[in-house]
Amino acid sequence: MWLPFTQMKDYEENPLIIASGEGVRVKDIHGKEYLDAYSSLWLNVHGHRKEEINEAIKNQLDSIAHSTLLGAMNIPSIKLAARLIEIAPESLSRVFYSDSGATSVEIAIKMAYQYWQNEGNKKKTKFVALSNGYHGDTVGAMSVGAIDLYHRMYSKLMFASYTIPFPSAYHHPSGNGDIAKEESLQAVRELFEENSDEIAGVFVESMVQGAGGMNLMPPGYLKGLEKLCREFDVFLIVDEVATGFGRTGKMFAVEHENVQPDIMTIAKGITGGYLPIAATLTSERIYNAFYADYSEMKTFFHGHSYTGNQLGCAAALANLDIFERENLVDEAAKKSSYVSEKLEQIAALPHVGDIRKLGLICGIELVEEKATKKAFPAEKRAAYHATIRMRENGLLTRPLGDVIVFMPPLAASYSELDEMLSIIKDAIEEISI
Ligand code: LLP
Repeated sequence: MWLPFTQMKDYEENPLIIASGEGVRVKDIHGKEYLDAYSSLWLNVHGHRKEEINEAIKNQLDSIAHSTLLGAMNIPSIKLAARLIEIAPESLSRVFYSDSGATSVEIAIKMAYQYWQNEGNKKKTKFVALSNGYHGDTVGAMSVGAIDLYHRMYSKLMFASYTIPFPSAYHHPSGNGDIAKEESLQAVRELFEENSDEIAGVFVESMVQGAGGMNLMPPGYLKGLEKLCREFDVFLIVDEVATGFGRTGKMFAVEHENVQPDIMTIAKGITGGYLPIAATLTSERIYNAFYADYSEMKTFFHGHSYTGNQLGCAAALANLDIFERENLVDEAAKKSSYVSEKLEQIAALPHVGDIRKLGLICGIELVEEKATKKAFPAEKRAAYHATIRMRENGLLTRPLGDVIVFMPPLAASYSELDEMLSIIKDAIEEISI
């Protein structure tokens, strides 16, 4: 095998093969247990082997596993679309399924682009990205992202987007979120004043930039961006792939600022972390621009073989039932406050520069020198080595550069959160020695 986002030479030094999982723990083939502190790459919600989701999939198997959505609906995908629209922001009324975060973003790109073409506005063909933004690894999704490490190599493959600076309080020279926010919104205004006639949409991760290092938007930023998009008639395309389904203490992170996207992408937590279902949600305005006689050539020519898979939709429906029954979004918000208190001890460690957190998304940035925010030399791979130590001590996570990701399943108990944070703290303490 050749593993994603993995230098196989590193993997060979520290191989890991998972055999099973139960609750917030997974077990390798030697029987060693690990706490799943990154929710199996940010998607597990209720822990592994959740009874109701297992049952929902088994029951669905008795009807059918998969049939295509190209020209035909199926029952679980209809039910799920209705549920999604119920919980999504009011602006969204249509569901286009796919099977991963990246495909949901590709669809958002093509949908926004074709909207303006179908409406006869042929000039609006460009997109705006935020610096350090991440929307997946397919070529379109890379083109609306801006992480140098991941994207530089492929720059000649990608289409050109405008990039505006992400307002990161910690990394801004002023260290002040409000100043960073105003600067960034001003840059957007200037860009729109000059070029909004050729801009189809702005791509933005909702409230938190994930892969870019768990960077939080200053309060009011997303709302400010929404206002500018409305003023200049540019689509606001919000990526909730990582932040959706309770992760930030709201069902969707846009709710923190009551933002109404034109397009919203969702994946990861949609099935509780079970199966590859994703969706691109959009408005009646966009949907209607594609609805016409076939001869007008306004059809959206896009689709994937496994789009709307019944087993996945059945798992997603069971997932949403558990959200309701266990009042999970509010519970996650409560756990988030608890984690904040616990993190104070980690924040005090000498090599912890910053801790950024919204709900149960958390990034711990390691630095060589706390006072000056001086980074560790990249070749030291400080966070990588810390996570290898965590693994030895029975916890799995992955770093983003020198940011350690802490993203437990929402259902983790208070004592499991304690266990996780204690292993993380010990490993970070060790790098001070
Ligand atoms: N959008 C956002 C905001 C995401 O965080 C992700 C994946 C995607 C889209 C793409 O979804 P997918 O195609 O994977 O279903 N490369 C990093 C972690 C990336 C985080 C995954 N997020 C690492 O090496 O750990």
